[in-house]
Amino acid sequence: MEKEALYYRLGKENLDLLVDRFYDLVFVNDQIAHLFKNDKEEIKGKQRLFLTQFLGGPALYSEKFGHPQMRARHMPHPITETDAIAWLHCMSQAIGSLPVSEALKDELFARFPPTAMFMVNKEEQ
Ligand code: HEM
Repeated sequence: MEKEALYYRLGKENLDLLVDRFYDLVFVNDQIAHLFKNDKEEIKGKQRLFLTQFLGGPALYSEKFGHPQMRARHMPHPITETDAIAWLHCMSQAIGSLPVSEALKDELFARFPPTAMFMVNKEEQ
């Protein structure tokens, strides 16, 4: 039998918790905090919509903002491989703090490294 999409197994409440904890970490991260220039609540809102669809739930981000084109949307922000690793570290910590099984945490985290590496658009200095 096919597994239910991650979004439904995780649940909306845990997704909201994840996004809150993740950006609380990102906004104080020495490596990447400087990249985030807009309002924290606004980016959290966008990320909640995006992750809902990224994890197999309703296409809330596309309904509001059109095709995700995440790499293109990140182009104005110079992202190095070190930045991507810092982003993933915040994500790993935020996922680790969720009240869900270790198996679900592992499955969830595994969705991010390929996408994060795809966002890299700048050589290391
Ligand atoms: C690889 C490291 C990454 C860095 C350094 C990064 C950085 C950023 C920055 C600076 C913004 C703009 C924030 C603002 O408006 O102030 C942004 C927007 C966003 N990022 Fe990332 N990002 C990364 C990876 C990812 C990944 C892997 C995802 C999805 C899984 C993602 C999803 C988003 C979304 C949904 C937005 C909002 C896009 C919009 O404007 O509609 N990012 N990111």
